[in-house]
Amino acid sequence: MERQKNKKAKYRKNKYANADIEEYYEKRVTIEESVIEVHGLVPARVFVDDNMEHIADMTDRFSVTMDPILRMYNAAMSATKARFEIIKDEFKYRGLRCPIHHIDTRLKSAKSILGKLQKKDLDLTLTAACNNIYDIAGIRVVCPYIKDVYLIRDRIMAQDDVYIMDMKDYIETPKKNGYRSFHMIVRVPVYFMNKKQMVPVELQIRTLAMDLWASLEHDIKYKSLYQETNVDFTRELKECSRLIYEAEAKMEAMNMMLEE
Ligand code: GTP
Ligand code: MG
Repeated sequence: MERQKNKKAKYRKNKYANADIEEYYEKRVTIEESVIEVHGLVPARVFVDDNMEHIADMTDRFSVTMDPILRMYNAAMSATKARFEIIKDEFKYRGLRCPIHHIDTRLKSAKSILGKLQKKDLDLTLTAACNNIYDIAGIRVVCPYIKDVYLIRDRIMAQDDVYIMDMKDYIETPKKNGYRSFHMIVRVPVYFMNKKQMVPVELQIRTLAMDLWASLEHDIKYKSLYQETNVDFTRELKECSRLIYEAEAKMEAMNMMLEE
């Protein structure tokens, strides 16, 4: 009986899926047009500058200055990511459990660099950005367990060409809102034709559980509805952080029993 029910549900699902496809093709045919309306493609409320000469000139002038800077940060970011990948690889070929689950990277956009300069009340120049903003290049190393976070921290600290500028342990002392993670600002060497430049990179080392909370908290807090209304989830988010921590601690204890 149960099996029959499932079969029926499956059939119905397929039927709907087919109906959707038919509807889709119908719509596609009716909305096809040959004239491309630039204004119609750009999101509403955005100022549309349709003059290509103007855009190309602006972009060129901007890139001449900005490109080498961003390339330098990009080089520092890739070189640092490679250091973590080497650690990952080493565990793999030794047949050991890997302390790194995945690695994310991100380069701050020019707009976001500008926003941070304004927030910090600094000169709105690239010089001020390069010498005061240390998270233009960012790497997030996501680990299975808390002990792995500290293992990764120690492996990075043991590399004698990495200069440690700052460390913040939000695992030992979580932020008031429940945020947990291990942060480091390091300077790594980037070699150019005629010089070696030590370039700052922000490292966030955290567990999968910490990453889950931080990603969803970020999603919830930056939703425009959350920002526009009076709703306040501060207490709920803190409670979620505690629950996630409890589950993580239990699972880490199980792993400890098996690994030690
Ligand atoms: P900024 O670098 O200006 O943000 O401040 P800070 O130097 O005090 O940085 P901190 O080390 O506290 O945090 C740097 C980064 O960590 C942020 O850009 C976020 O990516 C992450 N982070 C810090 N606090 C939170 C938080 O409460 N929630 C989430 N989701 N991420 C956070
Ligand atoms: Mg910072």
